[in-house]
This record gives sequence, structure tokens and C-alpha cells, in this order.
Amino acid sequence: MSIKKISKDQPETFMFNERSMEIAKKTIKNYPEGKQQSAVMALLYIAQRQNNNWIPLSAMKYIAKLLEMPYIKVYEVATFYTMYNLTPVGKYFFQVCTTTPCMIRGAYKLIDVCKKKISEKESEISKDGKSSWMEVECLGACVNAPMMQINDDYFEDLDEKKLEKIIETIKKDQKIQPGSYRGRTSSEPENNRSTLIGGKNA
Ligand code: FES
Repeated sequence: MSIKKISKDQPETFMFNERSMEIAKKTIKNYPEGKQQSAVMALLYIAQRQNNNWIPLSAMKYIAKLLEMPYIKVYEVATFYTMYNLTPVGKYFFQVCTTTPCMIRGAYKLIDVCKKKISEKESEISKDGKSSWMEVECLGACVNAPMMQINDDYFEDLDEKKLEKIIETIKKDQKIQPGSYRGRTSSEPENNRSTLIGGKNA
């Protein structure tokens, strides 16, 4: 999921830095001659990475020029797909799943923690400028509910205390550990497997 509202504050210009341009050029080369426009999604993602996790309109225009395609087509892609943020987000972007399995396992208690510890309003950057949060639909890790995505990683099997600890760790600029917060390996049972353990490929 992402923030589809276009930011009112827009930088005048945007350009890839040296590193982004290098990656963009390599990506464009992956496509056959005449099909370079197919790199648009990857280039939007590179722009988002470079620009503190959000894409300004000037980046869409820049990419349109680079790929020799109409700006409106880049805009359509950026506004359609959920992984693109079109307004600034915190350095740590909390996407809290509140779809049914996460909801019945306590997702709204996690939302209350986000309101208390990050910012009262969804999509509002915290006072220390470090974090923002938003509610999202299923992230496909329902078996480890309740869960959330922080930047690129999943944080699973959470509760209020564990989330508070994660937020405190971020405030101290320390590394946060992704994965299950009940010590599970992926989505395996908590107390080791008890069935299918004799099967060859189980
Ligand atoms: S319902 Fe939360 S990950 Fe699927």
C-alpha cells in the first residue's frame, strides 16, 4: 500500500544522482531495443529510493524524458501501483496491516501504539522526523498476524509491547530486527513441528 495523495510541496527539479543513473542505465539495457519504456516501474522505484522514499512529480517528468515517453503515462503508473509513495513519509515507514486476520489478532491495538508513539494522525510524520505510519490491506503474511511492514522488512507476531520496543529502538537509531517476534522461523509452529516430520520432503 502507499500514500496516493500527491504532495502539495513539490521540489522544482529532480535528477538521478550518479549511483541511481548507473542502476537505471543497467536496468534499461535489460529491455530489447525500442522497449525501453518497460523500465518505467524500475526507474520510479529507483527515484523513490533516492528521494527519501517518495516520488515527486518532477521525478516522473524526469523519467518520462529519460525513457522518451509521455509524462502522463509515467504518472498513470506511479498513481496506480501501491508501492509508490507520492508524498513524503518518515525515514521509517510503518505500514500496519488491518485486514481481517491481523485485525482479529490485535492490529488496532498496534494502530493505537502508532498513534501514541509516532503521530496521532495517519500519514503524518512524527515530531522527530523519523517515522510515519499508515493502515494497509493484507500484506500476505496473515499466518504471522498481526504484522506490519517497516521499510523493506516484515515484522510479525507483534503485540503492543513489542511494537513499543521497536519504536523505542528506532528513536535511539539502533538496528531493528525483522521477522517473527515470537521466535518462530518464518511461519513454522512455535514449539517445533509435530506433524509430517517423518516425510522426506516435509
Ligand atoms: S491479514 Fe494481515 S497480512 Fe494478511
